[in-house]
Amino acid sequence: MTIFEAYNDCKKQLQAAGVEDYVFEAKQIIKHVTGYTNAQILTKYTQALTQFQQDNITAIIKQRLIRYPLQYIIGRWNFFGREYFVGPGVLIPRSDTETLIDVCLESLKDKQTPRVLDLCAGSGCIGITIKGEVGESDVTLVEKYEEALNYTIKNALHNNADVRIIKGDVLETQGADGLYDLIVSNPPYITDEDMKTLQPEVKFEPATALEGGEDGLIFYRHIAKEYKKYIAPNGTLAFEVGMGEAEAVADILKQNGYQNVGVRKDYCDVDRVVFGTAI
Ligand SMILES: C[S@@+](CC[C@H](N)C(=O)[O-])C[C@H]1O[C@@H](n2cnc3c(N)ncnc32)[C@H](O)[C@@H]1O
Repeated sequence: MTIFEAYNDCKKQLQAAGVEDYVFEAKQIIKHVTGYTNAQILTKYTQALTQFQQDNITAIIKQRLIRYPLQYIIGRWNFFGREYFVGPGVLIPRSDTETLIDVCLESLKDKQTPRVLDLCAGSGCIGITIKGEVGESDVTLVEKYEEALNYTIKNALHNNADVRIIKGDVLETQGADGLYDLIVSNPPYITDEDMKTLQPEVKFEPATALEGGEDGLIFYRHIAKEYKKYIAPNGTLAFEVGMGEAEAVADILKQNGYQNVGVRKDYCDVDRVVFGTAI
């Protein structure tokens, strides 16, 4: 079987299984089993796959048929131009979160050696990106769960990010020490009701990374109120929010005395980031 035939076969099977992004995924699978780049695939598409490579594709497709996430199968995923290890126990970095990074970087652009606190760090994609983009920053990441924390540590090492990583419970206001120019969080924000109707792939991700309580807002209320004393004058609090939550989260910030409260849309035109300034 050639690379081209395998690619078409993957596409067909993924489409039949109801995988939305079947074209993209088929390409990722071929790249993964061959180790080729996009450009190499274009020039080598008539090349025959080895039996090992074909068996590998069969195994991957089997996992995708039960909707096990492709990112967990591949074991690595890209976020804001850097590679992160992912697997069971950690949330897969989403492209939506890149909007949060944009807001964070804008808030830090005039600060010389900013201190940054990333709460609910998971893979570490937020704190590690900020450290990578703002070299002089002093970044701390806080994560409660051991399985996720293993990925935070592994990803910081993999990306040569000289950051501080703390095991702590954000709902107990742990991990902060002194004042920060930016406190950022993409906390669990799915409502109890929406937890019942998750996409099949998301059901394989840890519930502890998703559950935001009855109305999805537990973490926003707690962080906006309890971590405010750790934000430096003119410092920023920035949150990623779930679909339909922006207005409620903006209200939480206003009720807690934050100024210049704003909302930013993601690439899909969804209100995705809520931010405010602590005076
Ligand atoms: C929505 S995920 C975000 C992960 C990562 N920051 C990202 O943007 O991809 C939320 C993370 O919060 C962690 N978490 C859940 N409850 C927590 C708590 N009480 N204290 C600290 N971290 C918590 C989860 O383990 C998970 O890694």
